[in-house]
Amino acid sequence: MRKAGKTRIICLVSSILLTFCIISCNENKVAYPSRQMPAGVTSDISKLKSGHELFLNKCAHCHGKSSEGRSDRAAFFKPAASDFTDSHYKDMDPAYLYWRIEVGKTVEPYRSQGSVMPAWGVHFSDEQIWKIVAYLQSRAH
Ligand code: HEC
Repeated sequence: MRKAGKTRIICLVSSILLTFCIISCNENKVAYPSRQMPAGVTSDISKLKSGHELFLNKCAHCHGKSSEGRSDRAAFFKPAASDFTDSHYKDMDPAYLYWRIEVGKTVEPYRSQGSVMPAWGVHFSDEQIWKIVAYLQSRAH
């Protein structure tokens, strides 16, 4: 009997912990539209090159390395500008990266966090955004 009671308590505690974990995991998830990257962008060298140029012109002063013209100011952003050489960007959903480039700081939770990430959707074509996404994912290692 005592053993059964112990098992029941362990089960109860585990399910409470599991529920808590599921709730807190969901809180960190943001919803974004699903999109399909057009075929061939990641394998086309000229498209990756044009994504690289866009990155150098528009993004590197915040997200780049100092050799790419990153400004000193960028180090003080809170939240910090993401480092796209980080390996986790390789496996990230391209639709998420597309969406963040499109909407930048204009959506929650980034707006409330005080993000300075501009929204590029009005400045770039679909094709340009996909080229940048492909370049960012090729940059990660
Ligand atoms: C004024 C500085 C600034 C510029 C310019 C800028 N960003 Fe950002 N960006 C940020 C900051 C700060 C963050 C982190 C906060 C956030 O997620 O909103 C960020 C976040 C992002 C994210 C989300 C990364 C993640 O892990 O969730 C992507 C993608 C991104 N930027 C892409 C770009 C691209 C592409 C460009 C150029 C077209 C660009 N950014 C230009 C400051 C900048």
